[in-house]
Amino acid sequence: MMKRLLLLLALLISAQAHAQKFAGLADTPQMGWNSWNSFGCDINEKLIRDTADAMVKLGLKDAGYQYVNIDDCWHGKRDKDGFIHADPGRFPSGIKALADYVHSKGLKLGIYSDAGATTCGGKPGSRGHEYQDAKTYADWGIDYIKYDWCDTKGLSAVGAYTTMRDAIRAAGRPMLFSMCEWGDNKPWEWAKDVGHSWRTSPDIYPCWNCELNHDAFSRLGVLRIFDRQAGLRKYAGPGHWNDMDMLEVGMGMTEDEDRAHFAMWAMMASPLILGNDLRKIPQSTLRILENKDVIAINQDKAGIQAWKFFDDGKLEYWAKPLANNEWALMVLNRGEQAASVNYDWKAHFVSDELSKREIDFKLATYDWRDIWGGKSGDTSKKLEAKVAPHSVLLLRLKPQPLDGAACSTTPAPRKLSYHWMSRARWQQMFEEDVEVADKGGVDLLFVGDSITEGWNADVWKRSFGQWRTANFGIGGDHTGNVLWRLQNGHAEKLHPKAVVLTIGVNNFSFCNATPAQAFDGVKLVVAQLRKLYPDARILLNAILPHGESPQSVERKRVLELNRMVAKLNDGKHVFFHDYGQAFLQQDGVMSADVMPDFLHPTPWGYQLWADAMLPDIRKLME
Ligand code: GLA
Repeated sequence: MMKRLLLLLALLISAQAHAQKFAGLADTPQMGWNSWNSFGCDINEKLIRDTADAMVKLGLKDAGYQYVNIDDCWHGKRDKDGFIHADPGRFPSGIKALADYVHSKGLKLGIYSDAGATTCGGKPGSRGHEYQDAKTYADWGIDYIKYDWCDTKGLSAVGAYTTMRDAIRAAGRPMLFSMCEWGDNKPWEWAKDVGHSWRTSPDIYPCWNCELNHDAFSRLGVLRIFDRQAGLRKYAGPGHWNDMDMLEVGMGMTEDEDRAHFAMWAMMASPLILGNDLRKIPQSTLRILENKDVIAINQDKAGIQAWKFFDDGKLEYWAKPLANNEWALMVLNRGEQAASVNYDWKAHFVSDELSKREIDFKLATYDWRDIWGGKSGDTSKKLEAKVAPHSVLLLRLKPQPLDGAACSTTPAPRKLSYHWMSRARWQQMFEEDVEVADKGGVDLLFVGDSITEGWNADVWKRSFGQWRTANFGIGGDHTGNVLWRLQNGHAEKLHPKAVVLTIGVNNFSFCNATPAQAFDGVKLVVAQLRKLYPDARILLNAILPHGESPQSVERKRVLELNRMVAKLNDGKHVFFHDYGQAFLQQDGVMSADVMPDFLHPTPWGYQLWADAMLPDIRKLME
């Protein structure tokens, strides 16, 4: 008996030690509605049902708002076994029925509790009932738990929130865990694996820059909360967000202030939780809250919070890197006077230490769109605008689509930073290659992009170690980049016997090129190599297969390009060879063992490629 008890205990402990928050619930900041800001304790099941109906009818659900959250004061009493029940007067049908209703509308239901013995509204808190409450919520079909911090004197925040996290895990239902601890114990430092979001400040109040003093606490206007975010952006990201508290859009501020408020919350990737009485929300407020472009900034997949990169004394300039090399830019006027923007893009190099993203407007031109104002333009000309007091100018920037022909054939260094490689890193790799060229003594030279850069060291040594080799592969390069490197990297100092060239696939992704345009680039690279090394033999690889299925767009582009590249074979200096079959199964499907992303070989993939190429290389090296 004792043994079994011990075993059970051990199991329980190990289960708890491995308890995790549910993943995937907040890949982007959560969006929804909460009863508190408009209704306080005056809530009931009809209000929640009407709100769910309104969210659907008003288009809020379609705009992305999905949680309907009951805040404080839904509680009745605990029964003799300690189970909590809803207030039978306010929620006569019970929470489960309400959850069913909300789910039937395609929405999700949230509930509220508190780490202490009583909630901020004086209702029963979860202290000492964490597992029981989490289980109850799970049984009811709850999807979201906001967990407050009243009446917690003497409690450790880490302990209390981790206990509830574990309780939610044990209850087995994925419920988003929204920590409402007001930032008192710096949750950003420890709660990444505990909650999906954490409050960073005291409660919000619908004013621009005021502080409303109650006896025990104060409530802060939107600017005050915004300023509380300093230093916190590095803690936020997909699955774990800084929560600037619920929105007060349409709750008393001017329309300019409302737009600015919504824009700030979007830029900071804060959860977007409405607090309005949706049964009588004005169209003007809805237009703000349903602005797709602002929501898209908030919901951007990259999940990077904005930072202030420039301040001219009157206006603040905030930037948020978005997915696909796009950016959001917010110009904030905190002041009482309208201020003019006269912004020379090229005078500002925008560089983000945290995400390693940067924009150099001297190198790349972006199209911009003014989200509230509707204007558009591009960064080749100065930005001129007026920003009203207490308002923002909000822009979305998109790199101008490249001209595939020019990009493929114009020698150019890397112009953009990507999350997988900064421009500085590209420059550094280029300089390393220059050093190699200066040193000389290379007989077998590889030139290309990430596929060349990525050669597995063991395979390389085993296969090509018998020769003096160099690898001039840089990830992301297209033919324009390689042309530039060959012209500016002292490549003429080398006298290789053979060059292995694999280039062109990035012309599709980063030059916007058609196969014919990419081919023009490959032709120029081959010509450049011929000019540099008239005596060398060039093993011209077809670009490797790309894409999992033979029917994929990627695969078809590769085939089309390779059909053209094959014509460069002259049997004397340029030897074309397509080793693509080595990577494919009989039906043409690529296996993830060889190329997990269907573009870059694994060590095993490199081995297959080396084995296929070696006989040819041997001949060329003779
Ligand atoms: C605290 C929270 C608020 C709200 C109330 C409810 O003040 O910060 O968001 O939940 O409690 O009593």
